[in-house]
Amino acid sequence: MPDVLLLLAHPDLAHSRVHAALRQGLRREGADARWELRDLYALYPDYDIDVAAEQAALLRARLVVWLHPLHWYGMPALLKLWLDEVFAYGWAYGPGGTQLAGKDLWLVVSTGGTERSYRPDGHNRFFIDAFWPPYEQTAQLAGMRFLPPLVLHGAHQATRAEIAAHVETLIDHLRRWPDWPEIADLMPCIQGEAPAGERPPVVDAGDAADRSPAATAR
Ligand SMILES: Cc1cc2nc3c(=O)[nH]c(=O)nc-3n(C[C@H](O)[C@H](O)[C@H](O)COP(=O)(O)O)c2cc1C
Repeated sequence: MPDVLLLLAHPDLAHSRVHAALRQGLRREGADARWELRDLYALYPDYDIDVAAEQAALLRARLVVWLHPLHWYGMPALLKLWLDEVFAYGWAYGPGGTQLAGKDLWLVVSTGGTERSYRPDGHNRFFIDAFWPPYEQTAQLAGMRFLPPLVLHGAHQATRAEIAAHVETLIDHLRRWPDWPEIADLMPCIQGEAPAGERPPVVDAGDAADRSPAATAR
């Protein structure tokens, strides 16, 4: 039974080098793999996410992995929508939202920018770690440990051997998780708070209809 869920979010795999190789490497493992791979842009080309199916997949996993190219210093649009809808208030976070607590979240990212460009004197101006706090804080609200991200820099200049090594690093880590020396001292996550007054009230479908502009104008 897979206990690792990989969410692949790349809007144009036909022209990808890194993520196409990752997908191929992960699929090579076949039915015995420890992981379930969900290719979000293939599953939801119309952006109509099946929230119940995604939440069920999350519940099956102990390690959740987000695989994506860095787009505008963050995640591609469909993964952001997935997060908005699937990490629901009262389910993943906020009052009663403890379904993901105790799981691990791992970010596996590629960047167009080289490692040198992600420095104060480079054109991306910040070390790459400066872009992780929104991810890390998201994990903390859900009670998930945020594992040290795996980054492949300079994706367009990477050689085939470098990309193949990146694929092997990922697969080796997935096989060994949670026995990674780099997380041996990482404490369990203490889930953060999102008080009720800081999000829209949760309404059922009937209430939502009653609040429509047409209903309120009546
Ligand atoms: C819309 C868009 C936004 C991007 N934003 C960034 C960025 O903020 N920083 C960066 O280093 N690379 C950026 N890139 C480059 C991608 O990260 C790069 O193309 C990708 O990692 C290559 O992986 P692939 O071979 O799987 O496509 C962007 C690319 C696109 C298409």
